[in-house]
Amino acid sequence: MDVKTFAVEEWMNKYEMEAVYNVAETCVDAFTLEELISIDGTDPDEFFRSLCGRKLTYGYIEGSPEFRELVAGLYSSMTAENVLMMNGAIGANFLVFYSLVKPGDHVISVHPTYQQLYSVPESFGARVDLLRLKPENKFLPDLDELRSLINEKTKLIVINNPNNPSGALMGKDTLEEIAEIARSCGAYVLSDEVYRGLWQEEYVSVPSMADLYEKGISTSSMSKVFSLAGLRLGWIAGPREVIAECMRHRDYTTISCGMLDDIFAVHALKNYERVLERSRRIIRDNLAILDAWVRQEPGISYVKPRAGTTAMLKYDLPLSSEEFCRRLFKSTGVFLVPGSCFDMDGYVRIGYACGTEILRQALQKISEFIQEKR
Ligand SMILES: Cc1ncc(COP(=O)(O)O)c(C=O)c1O
Repeated sequence: MDVKTFAVEEWMNKYEMEAVYNVAETCVDAFTLEELISIDGTDPDEFFRSLCGRKLTYGYIEGSPEFRELVAGLYSSMTAENVLMMNGAIGANFLVFYSLVKPGDHVISVHPTYQQLYSVPESFGARVDLLRLKPENKFLPDLDELRSLINEKTKLIVINNPNNPSGALMGKDTLEEIAEIARSCGAYVLSDEVYRGLWQEEYVSVPSMADLYEKGISTSSMSKVFSLAGLRLGWIAGPREVIAECMRHRDYTTISCGMLDDIFAVHALKNYERVLERSRRIIRDNLAILDAWVRQEPGISYVKPRAGTTAMLKYDLPLSSEEFCRRLFKSTGVFLVPGSCFDMDGYVRIGYACGTEILRQALQKISEFIQEKR
């Protein structure tokens, strides 16, 4: 099985650990274990002591009942039986493709997005068409184009809402229209929703595709909204027959995801509102800083994100995006992702949900770099 190189991951693997100002990262500034445990007043010492007597078995194979119930509670129509634990959203997405996509199937995926969402189905022998999300359309899909792409072999339509890298957000009406288009050809919709909940506007709330469509599948994880990427836990929420098919395939790749991670995830899920409040404060404070910077920086423009943790910045310099990022990194320690990783040269992706001081300093350094290169 051949697969294209995962451009963003390759870029991150090469440089991330040396970054001084990491604004390439997509997670909300991570919790320490102590912060996580004490978020509801629990004493960390007592909490850890309570774990000491545990035997480290495989634990619950599909995820603990508590985990699955709490995750189901993030949806309006899911029950624990509709939820399967996986190792991160990356594991969840992979398992959906591994379980559903066969050679000769047709898959449609939005683009730009997390490359796994189109390169993995292609590697399983599907014909993949890309539905381009364009800056001039605020990175939202053209649904007439989607209609023109479907055919009787379309097995899966893949979306990512909110979108990485643009921060675009599709609303309920658009999602319902996508469900209607998928229904007309019997396709599943896989919706990668790792950033769901991270909206900028106070009164915005967008439902999950799993709650809107009988063949809707949602994947998500503890990494972004919960700021707990180190747990490596995620899930699939969807129709029971899909969960059963995923479980049948998962037996060959994953016995369980780790009982300790499950325990920490349950603690975070029980405190969802508190965690979400922290994450929203970080993304909203930081976007205000980024937005003020973009407005006063003549060489930079963007489509202001409505959700998530990332934005695509268009720069006005005669440098390829990779050269831009490499030189910036070498001279300042600021780490961004080149737009070329999303087939969008002339852009860079910034992850703005890091610590606020790091963001401020990184933006200052980028300004100095741009001035020097002009
Ligand atoms: C859209 C999207 N999906 C999935 C992932 C994988 O996240 P994880 O496996 O940490 O849950 C990422 C990580 O950046 C992402 O941006």
